[in-house]
Amino acid sequence: MTQPPRSEGSRPLYAGTRPPRLTEDSPGFLAGIARGWGERTVPAPADPAAAHAAAAHRDRLSAALPGKTLVIGAGQAARRNGDADYGFRAGSDFVWATSCQAEGGYLVMTPRPGGHDAVLYLPPPARPGERDFFASAAHGELWIGPSAGLDAWSAALGLPVLNAAGFGTPATAHVAGASEELNRALSALRMIKDEWEIAQLREAIDHTVTGFAAVAAEVPRAVREGLGERWLQGTFDRHARTFGNGPGYSTIVGSGEHAPILHWVRCDGPVQPGETLLLDMGVEARSLYTADVTRTIPVGGGFTPAQRQVHDLVEASHRAGLAAVQPGALYSDFHFASLEVLARGLHDWGLLPVSVDEALAPAGQQHRRYIVCGIGHHLGLDVHDCAASPYEQYLGAALAPGMVLTVEPGLYFHAHDETLPPELRGIGVRIEDDLLVTDTGHDVLSGALPIDAAGLERWSAAQAS
Ligand code: GLY
Ligand code: MN
Ligand code: MN
Repeated sequence: MTQPPRSEGSRPLYAGTRPPRLTEDSPGFLAGIARGWGERTVPAPADPAAAHAAAAHRDRLSAALPGKTLVIGAGQAARRNGDADYGFRAGSDFVWATSCQAEGGYLVMTPRPGGHDAVLYLPPPARPGERDFFASAAHGELWIGPSAGLDAWSAALGLPVLNAAGFGTPATAHVAGASEELNRALSALRMIKDEWEIAQLREAIDHTVTGFAAVAAEVPRAVREGLGERWLQGTFDRHARTFGNGPGYSTIVGSGEHAPILHWVRCDGPVQPGETLLLDMGVEARSLYTADVTRTIPVGGGFTPAQRQVHDLVEASHRAGLAAVQPGALYSDFHFASLEVLARGLHDWGLLPVSVDEALAPAGQQHRRYIVCGIGHHLGLDVHDCAASPYEQYLGAALAPGMVLTVEPGLYFHAHDETLPPELRGIGVRIEDDLLVTDTGHDVLSGALPIDAAGLERWSAAQAS
């Protein structure tokens, strides 16, 4: 970044010559850079309550897989372009089992009679006196800032912490990501959230609700100044970064004919009066638990009659889905309850070429043209949590207290869908709530946002005024 020194005259000192490597090979630099640094004590970025929850998670994992050597890695940042990486986000299994978010970490659980011994391996920061202090952009404190050492991590997490440079995967280990047995066990254990995890999810969802309000407040400006979907996406992502770790998945902001596009993450279109605006957004808390919420609001005023008709049907489907979420019910119950309401409504509108019964039969499913995705999923550290579960552990399982899941029916009427009457083309509606299964039923954790068309009109207008 600095310029070569200049001589007294106007000619640079090294003009016309191949410059020497001025720093790393300079004895003066090497002697000087190693000294004169004050002591900086940096605590590990760890929350005691999170560390306590992670210890309990390890105990459950130990009990599930006795006698097995288990390895769970944090992973590495993915390359984005050239030598630039994406921001690092630790792997969810690792976070669940350690509460640590350090890049390049490994948890090793070695069996012993009655349980496991856990050791965490982390790359230590490079400090004054070490070459990497200035030479490693990954670990040198001149590049990454003063950082917690291994002792600080050990004290914060209540685990022995060793240098990852000495880490080698034990030959007999079950490694998360590669071992189906370990993946399944982690998926099953992570499906039931403890009190601390539920509090994290509540926090993520509460910040998401205020994020929806922040976005709705910016809709008039996005329209007026032609800033479009980008502005609304940026508004939510800034909110998520400020109040949490960031967005828990790529924010979806789809206005007009983008609303029916299931994962409209390009968010580069206009926002214009009279459109439906589909917002699917989730704050990931600093503990990395994420919300996943969708509302569809009118741009400027109220829904048109056609938009309201679609919204009303999705709302009825949503309510049917919510009612089916209770302990002991099958996971698939809310899925079918929601879909049946949609199929009946679509049939009433003349959009199904067969009877409702034929459509609902396994060989039919004609209604799925307008909703090809699922009606929900488990939610936690991953937006699509516990996805490594086999059928009998997820789709074919019963709901149990402590599960957190989404219910998210929708109708997606694409602008170029010639099976639709013109007034329905280009309308997309989804309602997505996050639910906790309780001992007696469920809590709608995102229930602070309205789900009915009139309520959403009032809510949107109130934020925008
Ligand atoms: N936002 C992704 C989903 O709703 O599943
Ligand atoms: Mn979802
Ligand atoms: Mn979503």
